[in-house]
Amino acid sequence: MAMEFREKDLDLQNIIADEVNKYLKRDLGTMSATKRAPQELIDKYEKMSVPQKGRDIYEIMNELDNEILEYIHRNNHPRSFSFIPGPGSRLSWLGDILTTANNIHASNFKNATLPISIERNLINYFAEKLGYKIKPAGGVFVSGGSMANLTAVVTARDEKIATKELYKGTVYISDQVHHSLSKAFHIAGIPKENVRRIPVDREFKMNVDELSAVIKKDIEADMKPVMVVGTAGTTNTGTVDDIEGITAVCEAHDLWLHIDGAYGLSHLLSTKGRDLFPGIEHADSVSWDAHKLLFQTYSCAMVIVKDKQHLLNSFSEQAEYLDDIQSDDDVIDPEMIGMELTRPARAVKLWITLQVLGEEQFRERIDYGQHLAEYTEECVEEMENWQVISRPSLSILSFKYVQPNLNETENNKILSNAAGRMASSGYAVTYTTELNGQKVIRMCTINPETTKEDITGTLARLDEFVKDELESL
Ligand SMILES: Cc1ncc(COP(=O)(O)O)c(C=O)c1O
Repeated sequence: MAMEFREKDLDLQNIIADEVNKYLKRDLGTMSATKRAPQELIDKYEKMSVPQKGRDIYEIMNELDNEILEYIHRNNHPRSFSFIPGPGSRLSWLGDILTTANNIHASNFKNATLPISIERNLINYFAEKLGYKIKPAGGVFVSGGSMANLTAVVTARDEKIATKELYKGTVYISDQVHHSLSKAFHIAGIPKENVRRIPVDREFKMNVDELSAVIKKDIEADMKPVMVVGTAGTTNTGTVDDIEGITAVCEAHDLWLHIDGAYGLSHLLSTKGRDLFPGIEHADSVSWDAHKLLFQTYSCAMVIVKDKQHLLNSFSEQAEYLDDIQSDDDVIDPEMIGMELTRPARAVKLWITLQVLGEEQFRERIDYGQHLAEYTEECVEEMENWQVISRPSLSILSFKYVQPNLNETENNKILSNAAGRMASSGYAVTYTTELNGQKVIRMCTINPETTKEDITGTLARLDEFVKDELESL
């Protein structure tokens, strides 16, 4: 006889249904965009022991509702403008519930046939958007942009340099590249001192002439250039590197070209589409996050390569305990082209969202994000002593406050304090970043539920906080 599990006595059917209903009905805009937990709660949960006998589930639900899930940064809040927000669609939650409820093990085609068919279908769909040929292109869903970048870096390394020469391997990034690339190079065994940071031009694009010169110098010094990483939508300013120019340099020296398009590449689905990314079809690999601008909950991203054989070369391994489920034909099991064996069926939720909303609504949502960034720019330009520093690009812009009587350090401090006060108020999240040594507010307006009133309300408060700070100087 099977063991009687205590779970059976719990009213999970109602508890789960009630929770889902509550979440579907709530209006995020009326809640705090971010809330820091007080120290006594941090102490409570850090010190809480695991009970010998389980506690009452309602007591635990109460702790979850009123404490644990109350004090978080809500990245899908309509006034959460910092980092790259994650405006996860409720359709994506539905996918999460279904894939989690079935606990799908999406490693091998034979175990999760149709979820993996869906994954292959979507990889092909996005590969076509990139201008890749469906055969031999391929790819795999991964947990996020960092993991997509790591997968691409390992693949490029294996393709372009022998292990015994790795100590001479050099890689090229701009100084605006996402920091996950530095981690990826480290994990892939590229020595830190061999990572070349190419300066950017006034538009924050990698300087291609400089790139070419640095590579030539490395070759003369008997180093072994491996890859260049360009960005299609930098985290700071939404800049798209000169992919055509970088491609020419890569072709001249037989280097791998990886394009990190974690959030930016979703603009391929916008009205402007491929015109925003000339030359993207030349990239050997790209990173593309669905949990940013394809409106998915975490964690859902893709690494797509022009030739899937390269992923297979790097990641396929034999294991006798998988013999019975390993595919032996054209169908390649996801576990053979990526790092994970046990993995959720991440594509299913994106498929649900795309099927229900259709490409047209994705296009409208993504266009709307860029429109909101342009609207924000117009408003900032009207505000006294505020300056736009990077113009709206792929739904991101940055701006700063400059009080002419103060020096740069004082202006920077005022801006940081204003950003801190905005977060503490809970109304919006508008953190700073740094561009050319100066603090700027960066707003990424990719949430389709953000209204123009959200933008004007946020800017008015920023202005108020700055003025308060000035008075207290
Ligand atoms: C350009 C870029 N690449 C990579 C990443 C990392 O993605 P993730 O946080 O999903 O690992 C980000 C995150 O914002 C990003 O903006």
